[in-house]
Amino acid sequence: MTVKAYISGTGSYLPPKVLTNKDLERMVDTSDEWIVQRSGIKERHIAENETTADMAIKAAARAIEMAGISADQINGIIVATTTPDSTFPAVAVKVQSALGIPACPAFDVQAVCSGFVYALSTADAYIRTGLMSRVLVIGAEKMSSIIDWTDRGTCVLFADGAGAVILEARDVEDGEGLEGQGIHSTHLYANGEGKDLLYVDGGVSSTGDSGHIKMEGKEVFKYAVTYLAEIVAEVLAQNKIHPDQIDWLVPHQANIRIIESTAKKLDMSMDKVIVTIDRHGNTSAASIPLALDEAVRDGRIKRGQMVLTEAMGGGLTWGAVLFRF
Ligand code: UT7
Repeated sequence: MTVKAYISGTGSYLPPKVLTNKDLERMVDTSDEWIVQRSGIKERHIAENETTADMAIKAAARAIEMAGISADQINGIIVATTTPDSTFPAVAVKVQSALGIPACPAFDVQAVCSGFVYALSTADAYIRTGLMSRVLVIGAEKMSSIIDWTDRGTCVLFADGAGAVILEARDVEDGEGLEGQGIHSTHLYANGEGKDLLYVDGGVSSTGDSGHIKMEGKEVFKYAVTYLAEIVAEVLAQNKIHPDQIDWLVPHQANIRIIESTAKKLDMSMDKVIVTIDRHGNTSAASIPLALDEAVRDGRIKRGQMVLTEAMGGGLTWGAVLFRF
């Protein structure tokens, strides 16, 4: 008998304030037409009086409710964020006390836009080794706090929000294979040679402040298309599956053109791809759980369906997870 980790509930939260492309036209030299054509973004949510932990807590409460569990059954918390409330303590420990989760391992992981894939993979590994059985996995970001609002190359892209899942252990009969519910494979990579293509120009041990996002957009775009094509090919080969066995692609939402390129590589029609970038912008580690929760709640993603999720971001980092929901 082995153990697999499956998603028993999803939840998300978006701050109420919506910033449209028209609003941005009044702030920097840009246009709605440019932003939509180059990125696919029409509007995004911006947190005003809320922190990353505040948003994480709201998303987590919704995931707990959907999973039909109580907070005291959770025995691990992993938060993917690059915009924590403070340098320490971790956002995860704030979530733990706010939701009344009993003392358990609670920590943040930082892999920027790939953060949720990293956190999900980490939680999966803990569950498969038997060290945890019910893990709260969150992606939460307040990217607006590290945006340079005078840099039109980045300020039109990034945004705020949070998404969460409950990952639970399930006993698996030998030979169940890919038909069984749960995470089938996880794939993580990083290549620090790309560290200067997308970064923040500040930090605790350098400038002493949190800095602002800097990006060589065109270069990052090229890496994203290449790395994501490679990693989805790896997922298919490792699991010995054909793209038509995947019901849904839930990609990180950085740019509609990157998403379309990955879908094309998989020979998937765009109606099998969950797209939120038009309304959410790039919420970094929050984008995948936000998209997943939206599609689960509106009934597109159903129990028993195969889902592929992938992301690429600063670091450079990239990764993918294949699971049956
Ligand atoms: O999530 C983490 C990973 N991040 C990504 O994957 C992002 C990857 N990169 C991208 O999504 C795209 O590169 C962008 C959306 C950031 C930019 O699109 P692009 O087609 O690569 O445009 P570009 O950076 O090459 O800029 C083209 C032109 C430039 O003007 P010139 O030099 O051709 O005269 C820019 O100065 O567009 C100009 N530009 C803008 N114009 C209007 C740049 N930003 C803007 C703007 N509004 N906001």
